[in-house]
Amino acid sequence: MTILFACTVRDARPWLLAFQTLDPEIPVRAWPDGGELDAVRFVVTWQPPVGLFPRLPNLGAVSSLGAGVEVLLANPDIPTDVPLLRIIDANLTGKMTEYVVLHILRQHRDLARIETQQRAGTWLRFPTRDTARTTVGFLGLGTLGRHAAAQVQALGFQVRGWTRAPRHVDGVEVFHGRDMLPAFLAGCDYLVCLLPQTPETAGIVDAALLASLPPGAHFINGGRGSHVVDADLLAALDSGRLASATLDVFTTEPLPPSHRFWTHPRVTITPHNAADSSPESVAPQMLENYRRLVAGQPLLNRVDRARGY
Ligand code: GLV
Repeated sequence: MTILFACTVRDARPWLLAFQTLDPEIPVRAWPDGGELDAVRFVVTWQPPVGLFPRLPNLGAVSSLGAGVEVLLANPDIPTDVPLLRIIDANLTGKMTEYVVLHILRQHRDLARIETQQRAGTWLRFPTRDTARTTVGFLGLGTLGRHAAAQVQALGFQVRGWTRAPRHVDGVEVFHGRDMLPAFLAGCDYLVCLLPQTPETAGIVDAALLASLPPGAHFINGGRGSHVVDADLLAALDSGRLASATLDVFTTEPLPPSHRFWTHPRVTITPHNAADSSPESVAPQMLENYRRLVAGQPLLNRVDRARGY
């Protein structure tokens, strides 16, 4: 029985080290050195090698390296009765909250202007905004959205959220369903997208959504690139109606060098590292799931294939 780390876009070494440090007895291998493929029961991956899964007759579960599982859900080679597992990790959640807070405060406190003024040696007092009169809206109130919303609220911002289905989140005004989207958006000075990628959420950030935001709003995307219609976002930024976009995720990654986002003065790009998984932090839950699989026990953080996350 082996765990196989099989990911084309991550260095395997820190992952193997994390597993071996936790339990030197557990057999772990890294693709392409998979050993006896019949022995592989548990695969850890993000972008799996093409053609891997049909070669694993005893596959029992596939764990994503991160919170998102859309690549695995779309992989026709993973039998539908094989459980898919995602990561729910306080360290990863905290990093996403840091990202959201960093980029809200950067705009809210005009950091770019402060830096420009200092470079020019200019002492020019300018008014700051009132936090209590600034609203941050979260598209998505899952594990990431709820944590970020609570921390942003603790800083004194007004907080609201939008979810697919009705849900109660303490202290957060929650809107749900497409019908309530315009009312939700109309009050957002900042819109933070932390939705999972599902067929329902693809292209949700389009011209109509952006037009429902108040003029001068800011957009932060820590969800997926597919949530955004790039041309519509660029049009809203070009017109100045949208003050800024901070983007960690893109339809095509790495973001192609010719993409207009790179040079747009209102866009901040980060290379999909807002909330990366740390091997030391997430290996324990993967090992726990491996042990549960071997023992025939229920697995943790199992993806609901019908729901898409
Ligand atoms: C990162 O994007 C993740 O899904 O964890």
